[in-house]
Amino acid sequence: MALAMVVDAAQTAADTSAAEKSAAEKSAAPAAQAFRPGLEGVPATQSSICDIDGQKGLLTYRGYGVDELAANSSFLETAYLLIWGDLPSFDQLRAFENDVQMHRRVSFRIRDMMKCFPADGHPMDALQSSAASLGLFYSRRALDDPDYIVDAVMRLIAKIPTMVAAYQLIRKGQDPIQPRDDLPYSANFLYMITEREPDPLAARIFDACLILHAEHSLNASTFSARVTASTLTDPYAVVASAVGTLAGPLHGGANEDVLAMLEQIGTEDQVEPYLDRAIAEKQKIMGFGHREYKVKDPRAVILQDLAEQLFNRFGHDSMYDLARRLEEAAATRLGPKGIYPNVDFYSGLVYRKLGIPRDLFTPIFAIARVAGWLAHWKEQLGANRIYRPTQIYTGSSGRSWVPLDARNAAGGG
Ligand code: COA
Repeated sequence: MALAMVVDAAQTAADTSAAEKSAAEKSAAPAAQAFRPGLEGVPATQSSICDIDGQKGLLTYRGYGVDELAANSSFLETAYLLIWGDLPSFDQLRAFENDVQMHRRVSFRIRDMMKCFPADGHPMDALQSSAASLGLFYSRRALDDPDYIVDAVMRLIAKIPTMVAAYQLIRKGQDPIQPRDDLPYSANFLYMITEREPDPLAARIFDACLILHAEHSLNASTFSARVTASTLTDPYAVVASAVGTLAGPLHGGANEDVLAMLEQIGTEDQVEPYLDRAIAEKQKIMGFGHREYKVKDPRAVILQDLAEQLFNRFGHDSMYDLARRLEEAAATRLGPKGIYPNVDFYSGLVYRKLGIPRDLFTPIFAIARVAGWLAHWKEQLGANRIYRPTQIYTGSSGRSWVPLDARNAAGGG
């Protein structure tokens, strides 16, 4: 069926039920007035991708515990699970890995475009621009063609890491290096940014980090992705809008801020004074708190274990002692309000040990989360209705236009 027909059919159905809906909405008017800032607790979609139990600290992807996936799966296998709904067979996984490997390179035109980006820009801005540019290079939008969906999934999963790595070298004045076909997904990414083949344990731990960040239900960037997807635009615009949303410090940007905060605290004896001052001044402690979890984020538990594995193998990091001390001191001060470490608290320490520059932490979050965004894109297309919430108007009414020369300094008449 052509896309236009899909859209027309959806529109007709929407029009037909509009009268009934408006009557139902009127009778439900008092409930609709209940404004929930940040949509807290408001279901905005139905989804079968990911489930969170914020009281027990449980996270599942398509019914599988994230701890089991982090211990046994690979990022690409988990991405397949998230996007297509089931774990792949041996042959399906090999085919998926091969397809992703074949799509890793990015056009020299995109690399040339990235060479014009300012060297001191944030890599998230570079990623948002380059992800959006894929829509120019692969402009056929055929959302009703399953092959188009498969190609877009491959391209985005394959090319996003290459674009992050390309900007990393370009901003240092170097030419990006090409992906290496003999290296698996995570090892290849580490190779492209460090220009060294990584230790297998380091690559395995990095891969587990990607699994942990791959999906998290209707967080801000995924909501952005679904809203954008609901307009039936192309998947590159969907991912670009989600990247822009992830960049903020209340979302993906927090892991950079955690390291800055630990540096500012400096020594263990400064932990308690810092916490007391920050809490008194109503400042947020970065890497703490979560809308969904009222206990320690299960991903933080796993990341802490991965961090310890890294330190045991490659040497201790005293910043980890500081982080543990902070977690301990925060437990008595913030724990009673259900505020505990979230995914960002230990991830920065892992990436730091892997030699990854701090401003690449959030782009790495995006590399992982693209799997979740694409799963939600596909799910949204499967039962689409354009997002168009309502609002409670709080502005003026009944004002009369005043000629420019008759307005006072405040702009009124
Ligand atoms: N440090 C100190 N207090 C915190 C806090 C933190 N990290 N996170 C929440 N709180 C407190 C708030 O001050 C507020 O207290 P109050 O009721 O006395 O005013 C209360 O907890 C609710 O905070 P609120 O910001 O409304 O919660 P939220 O559900 O809207 O926010 C986050 C969730 C994640 C945005 C928030 O916890 C935060 O900003 N954390 C720091 C940034 C971060 O680590 N983000 C990564 C998320 S994975």
